Amino acid sequence: MRLKSKVAIITGAGRGIGLAGAQAFVREGAKVIIAEVDEAAGRNAEATLRAAGGDVTFVPTDCSDSASVQSLMARTEELYGGLHVLYNNASVFLNKLDGQVTDLAEDTWAKVLAINLHSIFLCCKYGIPLMVKSGGGAVINTGSSASVMGVPGCDAYTATKGATVALTRSMAVEYGKQGIRVNCICPAGIATEMVKASSLDDPDFDADYFFKRAPLGRLGEPEEVAKLAVFLASDESSYINGSIIRADGGTTVTPIS
Ligand SMILES: NC(=O)c1ccc[n+]([C@@H]2O[C@H](COP(=O)([O-])OP(=O)(O)OC[C@H]3O[C@@H](n4cnc5c(N)ncnc54)[C@H](O)[C@@H]3O)[C@@H](O)[C@H]2O)c1
Repeated sequence: MRLKSKVAIITGAGRGIGLAGAQAFVREGAKVIIAEVDEAAGRNAEATLRAAGGDVTFVPTDCSDSASVQSLMARTEELYGGLHVLYNNASVFLNKLDGQVTDLAEDTWAKVLAINLHSIFLCCKYGIPLMVKSGGGAVINTGSSASVMGVPGCDAYTATKGATVALTRSMAVEYGKQGIRVNCICPAGIATEMVKASSLDDPDFDADYFFKRAPLGRLGEPEEVAKLAVFLASDESSYINGSIIRADGGTTVTPIS
């Protein structure tokens, strides 16, 4: 019960890493709000976690939309009276649309920036005041391998993940005094729908270059990222602020042989 009595919002918790995070948070005693744009996935996650005894509420949310995020925060306050953990996990990878800058359509660029980056701005802008009122807490942002190395062919995605790391650092400096720690998890090679669509199912993707050189010799599981998120959300990480932590099995520090 490392998160007992904590109220946590997890964006994009209908599936993948976010869903595993919601499951782990519930096991540790948190009250979890699933902020998910996919209604069916959100309802399904809520039902599954409630059946397991979790205090969980699905709030249909498009994290890239200001009104939707403001109503998420209002609903959180109404339901649970406060907020202690904001886990910014939702993102998209627009396979075949994202690409190198000279090939990238302006609307693809705008869409990826809205969903992956503007969403973090909005959730923090409207969520942090509630966290301050609740006595402080933890923000967990989500980067990527693209935050820490040059990943070709997805420059919109890469731009958002680099900015997420930079924003994590400046927010850690800004909000530390108010009792809010801001950290960032950079996953890579985690077995989810995003990785399937962006890489594994793509005949043009060089899996040898990327995943097969993973020092651990396998993909990661969403639950392995969720354990790190629990730690960063809990008081066990009380002196960790502004950290960028890779959850990638060492893939991004492996020299190319
Ligand atoms: N899987 C990996 O190996 C990997 C690697 C690097 C980074 N990441 C990052 O980890 C996070 C989770 O990735 P995943 O693999 O679980 O992805 P996923 O595609 O399986 O899940 C993402 C979830 O976010 C939701 N979502 C998308 N747009 C949304 C919006 N506007 N508002 C609310 N919810 C929205 C989706 O509906 C989905 O449920 C993402 O930030 C991703 O960039 C994952």
